[in-house]
Amino acid sequence: MAEHDAQSMKRGILSSAIVWGILLLAFPLAVLAGEPDPGRELYLKYCASCHGKDGRSDGPVSPYLQVKPTDLTRLKKENRGIYPLGKVMSSIDGTHDVRGHGDAKMPVWGEVFEKEVEGKKYPTLTSLLKVKVIAEYISTLQR
Ligand code: HEC
Repeated sequence: MAEHDAQSMKRGILSSAIVWGILLLAFPLAVLAGEPDPGRELYLKYCASCHGKDGRSDGPVSPYLQVKPTDLTRLKKENRGIYPLGKVMSSIDGTHDVRGHGDAKMPVWGEVFEKEVEGKKYPTLTSLLKVKVIAEYISTLQR
């Protein structure tokens, strides 16, 4: 085999290693992004029982709560036409206190999401990503 052949083969192996590295790094994101709408999926799983599947706070659990869940479709209207993404995110992860979320009746989602990925890499980051895609999904429910 000529020397330059061996070299180009080495280069081929090297670049495919890089490609694999990138694929592996991107994999968890691809899993989330591969869902038709991960935000909607997570919303339905964690939030719809109280806030309703369309965010109008008519979930099956809603009638039994002492504090009525916020109508999530009016967040934009009630914030002078600007969807308050940051505030919604902090309401979900618990950095902003929500009466109906932080007490014994309701978990603080940031902690729940982090527990789910405990032992894995970057639990806080993964949790934050979930919070973000949920908050972005809720922005599509505004009326
Ligand atoms: C067990 C019922 C329940 C579940 C499940 C629930 N919430 Fe809530 N949520 C409430 C209640 C009750 C309130 C109203 C609290 C209040 O008025 O102080 C509320 C308020 C909110 C608010 C408004 C906060 C504010 O500052 O006004 C947001 C945003 C919100 N919830 C998002 C979510 C999201 C996103 C999920 C899913 C990750 C979720 N909630 C799951 C009961 C629930």
